[in-house]
Amino acid sequence: MKYLIAGIALTAACLAGTAQAQPAGTANFTAKANALLGRMTLEEKIGQLAQIGGVAFIPGSPKPEDAIRKGQAGSILWISKPADINRLQKVAMEETRLRIPLIFGLDVIHGFKTVFPMPLALAASWDGALIERVHGVAAKEARAAGITWTFAPMLDIARDPRWGRMIEGAGEDPVLGAMVARAQVRGFQGNDLSSPEHILACAKHFAGYGAADGGRDYDSSYISDSELWNVYFPPFRAALDAGVSTFMSAYMDLNDVPATGNSFLLQDVLRKTWKFQGFVVSDANSIGDLVTHGFARDRKDAAFRAFTAGVDMDMASGTYNENLLALVKAGRISEAQIENAVRPILAAKYQLGLFEHPYVDEARSKSVIGAPEYLPLAREAAQRTAVLLRNEGGLLPLAKDAGKSIAVIGPLADARRDMLTMWSGFDVDTSTTVTVLQGIRNKLGSGARVEHAEGVQIAKQYRSMFEDLLGMKKVEPWTEAQSQQEFTKAVELAKRSDMVVLVMGEAALMSGELASQASLDLPGRQQELMQAIAATGKPVALVLINGRPLNLTWASTHIPAILEAWHPGNEGGNGIADLLFGDANPSGKLPITWPRNVGQIPIYYAHNLTHQPEGSRGFSSRYWDQTGAPLYPFGHGLSYTNFTVSNLKLASAQVKSGSPVEVSADVENTGSRAGTEVVQLYIHQRAGGASRPVRELKGFEKVSLKPGEKKTVRFSLGKSELSYWNSASKGWVLDAESFDVWVGQDASATLHTEFTIQP
Ligand code: BGC
Repeated sequence: MKYLIAGIALTAACLAGTAQAQPAGTANFTAKANALLGRMTLEEKIGQLAQIGGVAFIPGSPKPEDAIRKGQAGSILWISKPADINRLQKVAMEETRLRIPLIFGLDVIHGFKTVFPMPLALAASWDGALIERVHGVAAKEARAAGITWTFAPMLDIARDPRWGRMIEGAGEDPVLGAMVARAQVRGFQGNDLSSPEHILACAKHFAGYGAADGGRDYDSSYISDSELWNVYFPPFRAALDAGVSTFMSAYMDLNDVPATGNSFLLQDVLRKTWKFQGFVVSDANSIGDLVTHGFARDRKDAAFRAFTAGVDMDMASGTYNENLLALVKAGRISEAQIENAVRPILAAKYQLGLFEHPYVDEARSKSVIGAPEYLPLAREAAQRTAVLLRNEGGLLPLAKDAGKSIAVIGPLADARRDMLTMWSGFDVDTSTTVTVLQGIRNKLGSGARVEHAEGVQIAKQYRSMFEDLLGMKKVEPWTEAQSQQEFTKAVELAKRSDMVVLVMGEAALMSGELASQASLDLPGRQQELMQAIAATGKPVALVLINGRPLNLTWASTHIPAILEAWHPGNEGGNGIADLLFGDANPSGKLPITWPRNVGQIPIYYAHNLTHQPEGSRGFSSRYWDQTGAPLYPFGHGLSYTNFTVSNLKLASAQVKSGSPVEVSADVENTGSRAGTEVVQLYIHQRAGGASRPVRELKGFEKVSLKPGEKKTVRFSLGKSELSYWNSASKGWVLDAESFDVWVGQDASATLHTEFTIQP
């Protein structure tokens, strides 16, 4: 698989501002929407712009039935049961004048009933085909339930692991993020939205939500023009090029203007420059919240500002239903503007085939949702998203020797709900979720003694509204005596076992929305337990179940094997056992730079040089109390085999501006197992109209090789890879300058050459 070519298309489109790719037949749907608009009253049109919460947890939310009956709902969110969906759809189809069907929207972010690894984990596969298949299954299950719209993919670049929503995105890099964006949109939407397999996707949160000050969810983002265009926008542009039907605005202030009232984002960039043809929904309640921001005077002003900034549909705040009619009557908004907002919503309903088939087939839903045939993909995804961070002395893979005794220790070893994330749906059913303990038992059967001890408890200090909304139980804390007893029990178990698999990290609700974290240390007494277990002298492999990089500085020198498994989904335990015992070979690569500790944040590999970079001369730009280098670089991930990358060549080291730079390198499996490596290409522009990052990923290829096998990988660096948005000239530039190029296995690759672009 090769992603560079698609990368070229992405940036070329950015440069040109070409129109969004539209699926065949779109003009036809728009014509139908126009015909329907011609029959609608102004009130009916405005009603289509409202999305009503199906779960009334926002005080004062209207009952969905009432709003639908009054023609004040175009869409419903937070409902996932087929019978409920049909019940509400029936109101729209039988009790409203024009019988316009509703779109049902939900956050299907890594599976519907069959839960796959969390989105950041999927990005760690660096595998677009896998990601597309996973979201294809998610779409199929969701559509079988009557969901026709997912609020995914989340495309926010995130460089601060304190921000809990890092788990929903693809990490820190725009090129990897763009590849993941395309794959997700293709998986959800497919080629035919009227098929029973696909749903509308939503590129969210446009834009800059991942840069929240201090990693505090919802806090303001301050992002330079150059970072917006070069870093934060590319995944959104990629989703648009892949034909994404909808966008969602974001909650936070971007450079002091709330994203939901931000016409630079929603008009200038999205519509005028990128020619987006679909519709924009606000984030939940974010229009009403424009008042709270201190941006809008009142709810009417909020509705006016969001609407004129380019938000077509109001998610759950009620402000459009309350105010748009009066705003039109007062002449502040024209009916033509209302129609422009309604048209793509109606066109999407035609495109989904909802006018012909508004109801979901409840009998069919039972056979499609959670069908066992999806489990192998969930298991494969768990295998391919885990990242082997460390494997000193080749501790992994473990032998499946009969008679072996294994202690599986830690608060997450047998915690089913924590294999998933916050947004694994409502009514989450974990009855078939496989934990690491279960996975190991499944793997070894009666051939080994596998025992478990929790050792310590982990609990979140503050509950957010999501714990209540999603019915998450409160953890009853152990007494002091119990804590001591459980701790000792775990250590004793380690002592009488041949080896230990520690399963540690974070509970599901410790990341996601409203789940920022000031410390990256392992929560609770996990670090203490880890040290006590290591002190037994038994071989220890650490499996991490978590949503963000955690402080592994001690573990990285004392625990021989560390496998980052993320929140791996329903089949996580089986996939992890496959990796631990060598039935699968790890191939995941970090989509984020792994800091040593929280004080290094923000830390990302594509930073600029300074006038005195670390290690150059004297006391340079570094901390005096520790290195500035990360614990594990972006792109890092080990395998049970070894790869070497060599023979880096350029077709020519002097290239005329506008012509591509052709790069090749050989990758060889020098170990004794088959394995998969992601060969990564980074560049650095040495001089020019702006300081450029010390390294930027510009291409990668995932290569599977048998032992001793060798392959040549080729990359072509075109205009789009070599151009950047220059904030001084406010445009895309390609400087005729010298560039470094590295090809290797992570962002610290040393195999280097250089080329020059000639004017
Ligand atoms: C989140 C969105 C989500 C929406 C609907 C909001 O709180 O920020 O990402 O799509 O809720 O569930």
